[in-house]
Formats: sequence, structure tokens, C-alpha cells
Amino acid sequence: MSERKKRILLVIGGGIAAYKCLELIRRARERGYAVRAVMTKAAAEFVTPLSVGALTGDRVFQDLFSLDDEREIGHIQLSREADMIVVAPATADLMAKMAGGHADDLATAVLLATDKPVLVAPAMNPYMWRHPATQRNAATLLADGVALIGPNVGEMAERNEAGPGRMAEPHEILAAIEARLAPAPTGLLAPPPLITPPAAGLPLAGRHVIVTSGPTHEPIDPVRYIANRSSGKQGHAIAAAAAALGARVTLVSGPTGQPDPRGVDVIRIEAARDMLAAVKAALPADCAIFAAAVADWRVASASDEKIKKDGKSSAPRLELIENPDILKTIAHEGPGRRPSLVIGFAAETENVLTHAQRKRKSKGCDWIVANDVSPETGIMGGDRNTVHLVTADGVEDWPEMDKGAVAEALMARAAAHLRTMTADV
Ligand SMILES: Cc1cc2nc3c(=O)[nH]c(=O)nc-3n(C[C@H](O)[C@H](O)[C@H](O)COP(=O)(O)O)c2cc1C
Repeated sequence: MSERKKRILLVIGGGIAAYKCLELIRRARERGYAVRAVMTKAAAEFVTPLSVGALTGDRVFQDLFSLDDEREIGHIQLSREADMIVVAPATADLMAKMAGGHADDLATAVLLATDKPVLVAPAMNPYMWRHPATQRNAATLLADGVALIGPNVGEMAERNEAGPGRMAEPHEILAAIEARLAPAPTGLLAPPPLITPPAAGLPLAGRHVIVTSGPTHEPIDPVRYIANRSSGKQGHAIAAAAAALGARVTLVSGPTGQPDPRGVDVIRIEAARDMLAAVKAALPADCAIFAAAVADWRVASASDEKIKKDGKSSAPRLELIENPDILKTIAHEGPGRRPSLVIGFAAETENVLTHAQRKRKSKGCDWIVANDVSPETGIMGGDRNTVHLVTADGVEDWPEMDKGAVAEALMARAAAHLRTMTADV
């Protein structure tokens, strides 16, 4: 019995690269896939539905509110009948709508209604691709489980414009489709994993980012320790955001209940001195972000045995000594060892900005992310954060966001900063 043809639903966005989707359709059909196309209104400005339909050998779907289309095969059915949805070219606009969950035309409604794997091939001007909004949207899509292919680096349609933004070539997109839809070889239960974004197109590709997260536990004896209320949510979110932008990420984490972010090397430590050693061992790095709430002090001589309450002697007195200053130590590493961008966190309960500005100078770091962790803010352990970004140029007050969005925005800024530093050289 012959196998049912795999079905690709191709969503064509309104960009110059739309002409390349004709070749993609031709190649996909040659490889035995059934292709059905949905075009945005703008896509029809670049390539005609007639050409697309001639190549797919099927009707082309364009209108969410077409009575005939909706009666015959509704938008929900369109997305359900496909084995995979491919968005090519994915305009900046389509990516923004997908990231925001919009559904105001057929293309976006189909994408929101699907339960199938989605592969997105961005194509746009390099400035559009590098814009923090597009970077945030790309990070959101990756976090939502959407696969990205490209964009590639190269010449643009516009004269004198080059950089990341060229749509991946049809044969590359087809290879990505096949990696997902090919029948599993005998003995394997699952198809190969959905492709991961090719590092070349992503803003932190080829970069190493170190992130610290969570509290430290400073031992008193083998069973007791001094700790703080840090949950690790912000640091872990930063590590995930850096990985989504293509970085190799080392996350040095104190004890937290957070799951390991995908695609990140996690090194677990307990005490501040171990955290410093792990960070030093992970150098060199392009960027280091110190989001962990490191204990300032530790017990001078932790007991090797559990301290007993014998009812006779008085309560033990704990002598505290200072822990190493991890942020300051790394910010003062020598050439070739100091990361190009060192970012500290300042968790304060009063005079947040004054303390943060002072801390940036005294620690020798480049940026400070300052936040007010007074109990009434709910930030420590909570899901949301209101931060101020303190740089040499001044202070930016960011709106209240969830910790994931803070992480994405921070990493997009870090990526842009590293890019300008490289360009300056
Ligand atoms: C000549 C021309 C070329 C364009 N090329 C692109 C492009 O390559 N990528 C992109 O994101 N937007 C491009 N745009 C802008 C999109 O067409 C515009 O954002 C449109 O609203 C996208 O609609 P859609 O996302 O629904 O397809 C271009 C516009 C024009 C006029």
C-alpha cells in the first residue's frame, strides 16, 4: 500500500523573497510532498496567486472571510490537514503577528489554530532583522517551539545593503522540512528533532555567554546553611534568552527549583567560592551576566560535624567573613579573560538608582540591572520585574515585564552592544 503524501501548508508573506517560494514549491513537489499555499494580501503584490496555484496544482487560499473557501475548507481544517506549516518568506510583520498571537487574516489565523510543527524562514532587510523588536519576536517564536531557518547573511535586494536577512535558499528549507517529515528509520520511535536555528543567522551566534543564577548556600555545618530568597527565575530566563539568540551559554547556578533551560550547559554549585571558581573556569566569554544573589558573608569556620544542642552550653556564635566579590573579580580580569560586556545585578531595598550607579563604578562592570527587592514589590521569587538599566550613558527605566521579557530585552540589547563593539574594532 502506498504511503499518503505528506502535506505542507506554505504560508507566503509579502517580501521580495516571495519569488523564491515558487522554486520551493517545485522542489517540494518533486520530492513527493503535496503543497497547499496560503498567501497574505501583501504576498500577492510580489508573486501572483496564478503562478503559485499553477505550481501547487491546488487552489490558493487568501481570504479569511471568503464564503466559498470557508464553506469548503475552513481555516481550522486548512491548518489541521497539513503535516507541517512552512512560512516562507516570513516578513518582520508576520513574525510580529505570530509572536503576538494575532489572527486578523487567513495566514495568521491558520498559524494560531495549528497543532502542527511550524518552520519559519525570515527574509527582510538587515536593519529590520537586527531591530530589537524583531529579535524579541524571534526569541518568542523559538520559545514557543517554532523552528527558524536562517536568515542567511548576504547581499540584499536594496543596493549597498548586506548582512543577515536573506531568506534561506529553497534547498535549505526543503532539507529542514525533510529532517522533520522523513519517516523515522526502523528502530527509532520519533522523527528527528525539529531543526534548531542555524547559528549563522542569529545575533549571538558564535558568542559565549556566562550567566549566574539563584542564591548561594553558605554552610554552617553539614546540615545547616545561610541562604537568601532568590528563586533563580530571572537568571535562568536570561540563560534561556541568550541560548535562543544563538549563544553558547554556561549557566552557573546555585540551588534553585528552576528546570534547566534547553540547550544550556548548567554547572551546579552551592557556595559563593564555588560559584567564582566555576565562572573563572568557564572563561573566556564575550558576555557575563551576574544575576545570582551571592551571599556577601560566609561562616568563618563551618563545622565538619552537626552542631549539637546539648542543653548545657550557650547558643553557638557564628563569626562571619566576607565572600569573594565575583562581579568585581571578573570585571577586573586581564585582557583576553575579561568578557567584553560584564553585567551585574543590583538588588536594593532603598535608593535603588544611587546605589546602582555607585555599584557600576565600584565594581568596574559595564552595565547594572537594578531592581527594588523590597518585600512589597513581590520581585524576589515573583514572576515579574521592574528594572532600570544603568550604563555609562545613563539610566533607562524599563516598564514592568515578566522575567522572561526582561531577559529577552536584555539579551537583545547585549547582542546589539557586542555587535557595535565588534564593528568598532
Ligand atoms: C518593495 C517592498 C519590498 C518589501 N520586502 C520586505 C521583506 O523582504 N521583508 C519584510 O519583512 N517586509 C518587506 N516589505 C514590507 C512588507 O511588505 C509589509 O510589512 C507588509 O505589511 C507585510 O505583510 P504580510 O506580513 O502580511 O505579508 C516590503 C515592502 C515593499 C514595498
